Amino acid sequence: MKKLLAVSLIALSVSFAKAQENKDVYKIDLPSYDWKMKDGKYKEVFEQNCLMCHSPGYVFGQAKGKSGKDMWRTVVYQMINEFKAPISKENAEKIIEYLNENYTNKN
Ligand code: HEC
Repeated sequence: MKKLLAVSLIALSVSFAKAQENKDVYKIDLPSYDWKMKDGKYKEVFEQNCLMCHSPGYVFGQAKGKSGKDMWRTVVYQMINEFKAPISKENAEKIIEYLNENYTNKN
């Protein structure tokens, strides 16, 4: 009986050591960005709803030169309808307002 206990204690400590060893395997580096978002009304609604799938740079980079309320409306609803972004209609309107106020190309 004592022997069995000793064996299982060894087995336990071995598997514990293995678990410790494997810790690094699960270490992931999350992507980061240093994009400075313009401060404005509903900025946080944009951040909470649009940055779960891509960075702000991606949003603004793609939209260069062809902005305006209609364009932002099309983009936001495209995210909802085609890519299934879980955004309520109320928040969608806030995001459109934020993008239009702060990221509309006036040219
Ligand atoms: C559920 C994930 C998801 C969320 C949330 C999301 N998007 Fe996207 N978005 C995508 C994917 C996927 C693409 C890439 C489409 C492609 O490669 O053609 C994309 C592409 C874009 C583009 C590039 C232009 C285009 O038509 O492809 C813009 C601009 C954009 N998103 C803006 C937004 C905005 C603004 C929000 C918040 C309202 C948002 N996204 C939220 C998934 C998402």
